[in-house]
Amino acid sequence: MRLRGRKGIREALIAQPELIILEPATYKGKWSSLFGNNNPIHVELGMGKGKFISELSYQNPNINYIGVDMYDELLRRAGEKAELARAADGGSLDNLKLALFNIEKIEEIFDNSELERIYLNFSDPWPKKRHARRRLTHAGFVRKYIEILNEKGEIHFKTDSRSLFEFSLNSFADMGLRMRNISLNLHREGVRTDLVLTEYETKFSEQGVPIHRLEVVIGKQAMDQHLQQLADLERSEEL
Ligand SMILES: C[S@@+](CC[C@H](N)C(=O)[O-])C[C@H]1O[C@@H](n2cnc3c(N)ncnc32)[C@H](O)[C@@H]1O
Repeated sequence: MRLRGRKGIREALIAQPELIILEPATYKGKWSSLFGNNNPIHVELGMGKGKFISELSYQNPNINYIGVDMYDELLRRAGEKAELARAADGGSLDNLKLALFNIEKIEEIFDNSELERIYLNFSDPWPKKRHARRRLTHAGFVRKYIEILNEKGEIHFKTDSRSLFEFSLNSFADMGLRMRNISLNLHREGVRTDLVLTEYETKFSEQGVPIHRLEVVIGKQAMDQHLQQLADLERSEEL
């Protein structure tokens, strides 16, 4: 991701303390208190310019959203965008926080069972084999996600990278995790207007690049619900 001009970035971030969290480790185990309610918390790891998380937070005021990225310039842009979007639509930013942090140490900012959903959107593919451990769907990361997700926990993953998708399918399968709603070409019938698209997804879909997507069922309650839905589906197809 190309970044421009660093002048004044820190000042801009400090000027938005309600939205931008520069010391997220302070809130480990306390995110609900920060939001001021017990609504579920959904997190996008590697949010980039923040379009996805900002739009979702507007659509779902009863869910708390946290976008995490390690670049201050991206946080500044995401913060500005979210402010502008809310000024235009009159909504509130109370259910959105943007956190500056390196995902490699994710366990330092979220406590066990603190999250309900993790979004991994267009994570860096790290195509070289020797960099496999850096892929955000590597078992080393997934073990951490399992700890911080709760009973309803799920991971939602989207990518344009065929190799990262295959790697991730195997990574989740090797860990005995259940996957559902697997799509090799999410926008096959035209761009899905019912879904919120990320910046990268918008760009790639316009170019006709297939987008791969899947959901991983982690928590026990999420698994029970998934199995029930499968049983209902099978029954309806028998009729
Ligand atoms: C390819 S971009 C995707 C951005 C956005 N999710 C989208 O779909 O448009 C990947 C993002 O992940 C962030 N990222 C990669 N590794 C990270 C890490 N270890 N910690 C925090 N952010 C990271 C990058 O800074 C970048 O913004």
